[in-house]
Amino acid sequence: MKPILAIYPGSFDPVTNGHLDLIGRGAKIFDRLVVGVLRNLDKEPLFAAGERVEMLREVTRQWPNVEIDVFDGLLMDYARQKKAQVILRGIRAISDYEYELQMALMNRKLEPNIETVFMMPAEAFSYLSSRLVREIAKLGGSVKDLVPPAVEERLRAKVS
Ligand code: PNS
Repeated sequence: MKPILAIYPGSFDPVTNGHLDLIGRGAKIFDRLVVGVLRNLDKEPLFAAGERVEMLREVTRQWPNVEIDVFDGLLMDYARQKKAQVILRGIRAISDYEYELQMALMNRKLEPNIETVFMMPAEAFSYLSSRLVREIAKLGGSVKDLVPPAVEERLRAKVS
């Protein structure tokens, strides 16, 4: 059987413990997992793409089959270019489902040969998002247990 390469795309501004939970699950079932960091976000990111990549590399060192990469433009063009067979996405709650379904079906229309696979993070992370982490950090709250210690440090430095 051909080794399966999965891409886990996202903004990762910044990577949270929920993302890490999903990366760990993906690393167990796919031969290679490429975490694809979208460089140009619609909104000005808190962390530049290079910083988001650095943090991801730091916190995913324990998984030898996980790589971090940056992409621009259409996800399906990037996935085709990487020769990936799978897009991995996380679903935390029903509220994620509608948006994820729409994106998965549109991506399938663009490239029918690549499958989107959904995984659920541990329920302890079901309320966690990068947006809330950024907001809490900016307002001086604690993000301990929400992000890895290395990211917590970077957040502190960024908002101080
Ligand atoms: O972490 P996010 O912000 O939920 O990730 C969203 C992401 C990066 C997966 C999505 O916005 C994306 O794939 N963007 C690339 C542009 C693209 O392909 N758009 C068409 C999607 S159907």
